[in-house]
Amino acid sequence: MINLETTFAGIKLKNPLIAGSSGLTNSIQKIKELEEAGVGAIVLKSLFEEQIENHSDKLSQLSDYPEAADYINTYIKMNHVEKYLDLIRAAKEACTVPIVASINCYKSARWVDFAKTIQDAGADALELNLFTVNAGEYSDTYLEETYVNVVRELKKVVHIPLVIKMAKNISNLPGLVGKLKALGANGVVLFNRFYQLDIDIKTMEITSGPVFSTPSDFSDTLRWTAIVSGKVPDFDIACSYGVHSWEDVIKGILAGAGGIQLCSILYEQGPDVVGDILTLVEEWMLQNNYDHIDAFKGKLNYANIESPSLYERVQFMKYFSNYK
Ligand SMILES: Cc1cc2nc3c(=O)[nH]c(=O)nc-3n(C[C@H](O)[C@H](O)[C@H](O)COP(=O)(O)O)c2cc1C
Repeated sequence: MINLETTFAGIKLKNPLIAGSSGLTNSIQKIKELEEAGVGAIVLKSLFEEQIENHSDKLSQLSDYPEAADYINTYIKMNHVEKYLDLIRAAKEACTVPIVASINCYKSARWVDFAKTIQDAGADALELNLFTVNAGEYSDTYLEETYVNVVRELKKVVHIPLVIKMAKNISNLPGLVGKLKALGANGVVLFNRFYQLDIDIKTMEITSGPVFSTPSDFSDTLRWTAIVSGKVPDFDIACSYGVHSWEDVIKGILAGAGGIQLCSILYEQGPDVVGDILTLVEEWMLQNNYDHIDAFKGKLNYANIESPSLYERVQFMKYFSNYK
């Protein structure tokens, strides 16, 4: 009998597949559909700091009275937050799988109160989606310090598991993840995929790039999952970014992930793909004599293979020398 149970951020999941935060997790109807399709957990669409700030700034510019501007700011924020809290409460009532709330923040202090309210609304965990582009205005260590400060502040008020969805461009990822673990974070997601831009050479405008990831994006996710899993033991990791097949799910677990987040594949193939993936993962486990996930989780991570430097190889030098 194959057992697909796993844990992520200290939470027991019936299987490793997690619906990642996106437009597919912003309404009860869609969330219910994903649960019925068989996912082990659901991360709600993020509540965005930027969205709330922009909206309230625009409205408060219309007012000549500072008190009115303050009132508008507070009203808008609370209105967005209230709607989000309603979604959490409704999701908790409608589903049995763990519901993870998600906030997108870039200034630490702002979000501490919201995080507490999210916890009180009944979310099983909180995922932080945190990133700022440093176009030269911040110090070299600004991003890393922001991660550390936000986690430090949130751990003072949040008692549900705290998960950090990491950006790819961190100079010492295992070092930072180790610090976040020491501060009490309960898990990381590797990685977030941000809005991609492009340039239209006809109109000479900056445009939107591809919305979805592709299978080739998964290699980087695998590399860093294996390295972080080997270097920061006993810490929960979920793979995200580039999971496009059942084989990717197995690879992510072999590299050390306990949870596998799906997003683009759910958009492209619909929720039914979840059942197909679970069936094929079970078949692979049966054929390879693994009856539970922990039996092969991390088997090929940085700490468990003979030549961990394989995960550090980045130059094509030898392997692609056949390509003239
Ligand atoms: C349309 C769309 C909306 C998204 N919205 C969010 C969001 O609100 N919060 C968040 O943390 N990630 C968001 N993401 C990122 C996904 O959760 C995921 O991390 C990313 O797409 C990489 O996974 P994938 O390769 O499976 O698509 C969004 C992705 C897409 C495609």
